[in-house]
Amino acid sequence: MTGALICPVCGEPLSAGERAFVCTGRRGKVHSFDRGADGTVNLAGGGYRPASGDPPDMVAARSAFLRAGWYAPLAERVAAAAEGLGAVADAGCGEGFYSVTAAKRCGFLYGFDLSKKAVSRAAKLARAEGLSNTLFSVASVFSLPLADRSVDAVFSVFAPVAREEFFRVLRPGGSLFVAAAGAEHLCELKAVLYDTVRKNEPRADLPAEPVSRETLTFSRTLPRDALLALYRMTPYCRRSSPESEARLLALPELSVTFSFDLYRCEAEK
Ligand SMILES: C[S@@+](CC[C@H](N)C(=O)[O-])C[C@H]1O[C@@H](n2cnc3c(N)ncnc32)[C@H](O)[C@@H]1O
Repeated sequence: MTGALICPVCGEPLSAGERAFVCTGRRGKVHSFDRGADGTVNLAGGGYRPASGDPPDMVAARSAFLRAGWYAPLAERVAAAAEGLGAVADAGCGEGFYSVTAAKRCGFLYGFDLSKKAVSRAAKLARAEGLSNTLFSVASVFSLPLADRSVDAVFSVFAPVAREEFFRVLRPGGSLFVAAAGAEHLCELKAVLYDTVRKNEPRADLPAEPVSRETLTFSRTLPRDALLALYRMTPYCRRSSPESEARLLALPELSVTFSFDLYRCEAEK
């Protein structure tokens, strides 16, 4: 079931073949997009640059951290939100940790990300979990290769929010779920790295007033390897001084607060 897909070039419906997705064509012009050996497809159209999305080392660190289960409470919330839905899009799906969780509860899961490496990892994870109801594509969240009003929900977990685009692809009454850093998220990690710790602000870029908002907070004591994976999957890894990094690397463990703001917005009925 990939019936919601549209051609990134002409916007006509895409049909799935064994080796490629092909559009129905307009005025005799047909566009074709090959499936990779991993089952993924590049539907980013003209917007794709090879260096787009998160770099491979960040993707690998996030995979290691998430698969170790440190964010399991958030994954449970994502799974609950997907329960019983038909088609769901995970926009900015990364390496598919939450996509796969959602796919176990919904009819079909489309995962989109600009990082080719992440999309490929997501497809492999879905295959390892025995799922056949997923498709992972390289595509920008700002230009989703999905028909208007074609999905029941869009998930955006720690990823850019594309206000108009998410509401374009949602069916009337469909839900946009956004998970973002809560005020206290990673405050102890930031205290090791920086002199002044700023709290995260609530998300101000949602497409509509949320119909619900809650904060999920818990803390865990992370051993050194998990702490380093966490650091390497965050932007702090790119912004910290060598001295700050050395302070972090010297720690045997750290108790860290995880705090997620969970929003649900509803498309007009
Ligand atoms: C912080 S990661 C979150 C990944 C995943 N949702 C998770 O929580 O594990 C943000 C993801 O958004 C992707 N991304 C950034 N800009 C994007 C865009 N314009 N379109 C699609 N993906 C994008 C990055 O490549 C990265 O995988």
